[in-house]
Amino acid sequence: MSGPDNAAVTHDSVCPLRWDGQMLELLDQRLLPHEVRWLACRDSAAVADAIRALVVRGAPAIGIAAAYGAVLAQREGRFETGVAQLRAARPTAVNLVWALDRMHALAADGADAQRLLAEARAIEAEDLAANHAMAAAGAQLIEPGAGVLTHCNTGALATAGLGTALGVVRVGVASGRIARVFAGETRPWLQGARLTMWELQQDGIAATLIIDSAAAALMRSGAVQWVIVGADRIAANGDVANKIGTYALALMARHHGVRMMVVAPSSTVDLATASGDFIEIESRDPAEVLGCGGRRHAPEGVTAWNPVFDITPASLVDVLVTERGVLRRPDAAIMRARFGKRDA
Ligand code: MRU
Repeated sequence: MSGPDNAAVTHDSVCPLRWDGQMLELLDQRLLPHEVRWLACRDSAAVADAIRALVVRGAPAIGIAAAYGAVLAQREGRFETGVAQLRAARPTAVNLVWALDRMHALAADGADAQRLLAEARAIEAEDLAANHAMAAAGAQLIEPGAGVLTHCNTGALATAGLGTALGVVRVGVASGRIARVFAGETRPWLQGARLTMWELQQDGIAATLIIDSAAAALMRSGAVQWVIVGADRIAANGDVANKIGTYALALMARHHGVRMMVVAPSSTVDLATASGDFIEIESRDPAEVLGCGGRRHAPEGVTAWNPVFDITPASLVDVLVTERGVLRRPDAAIMRARFGKRDA
């Protein structure tokens, strides 16, 4: 497949959520790729539970789901409590609180459920537009014939559509710039193996799966020129919180002369957090590490450490691609200049 850099990429065959007028339906990502089943969330508590359980995951998708959850909370007549439950569902992706802050500000202004629904739809539409802008900008940075390695799932399943890092991959492949796509399996939840490989397969994009610990050998082989990842929160100094393993990839990339691209909408930027040191890293059940697919493989009686995100220092990021443009070697001054409050 090849075409110009601005080739319209319409293949967006999967979507993580849909609002049916009365409730939010979520594509249950715990069951993919083996089963495509939608989970009906009829109230805000169900949405909060679904976010916590990773039925829906990926920073932008969590924010969008939470916004619809806030609509349900308003309809239930328990907006404050419902929003507080949604806010507490997961700690690291700032898109969750960003979306809920938007909904809260409107509700505080007297908005009814109809107005809140329009806002949730706007959050979703803005995310899709941002992804298209980032995909075009990011793909242009890649020299023709390049190989790329991505991590976790940053595609349509993690967003309103197209994806962040995977959006760049989609457009890069469509425009002929990207010749080879590799995906890390992303232990322990296997977002890369289960979700990214499935999404790419749906769109007819060939990709090769690697175990996470093969990344250094892959870079040494010369097969990849870029690591392209998303983000869950980007601090004021440009430090990036993303799926566990991202930091290791950034270190390896710098060693091998492979460039590190982070692709994230401005809703992922958190100027109120000075650096990655202050970002709360979610820890999940050690059982995810002690086994796989519900089957335990570690001996009984042992335990595990399961942080599901890590911090990549800004100094290891070559480019940050946002819908507000491309930032090279982001630092506090560059971040402030691009994302600081604008004059009214
Ligand atoms: O635990 P998850 O699956 O919600 O983690 C998702 C990631 O870390 C993604 O890389 C990140 O949200 C960017 S996706 C657009």
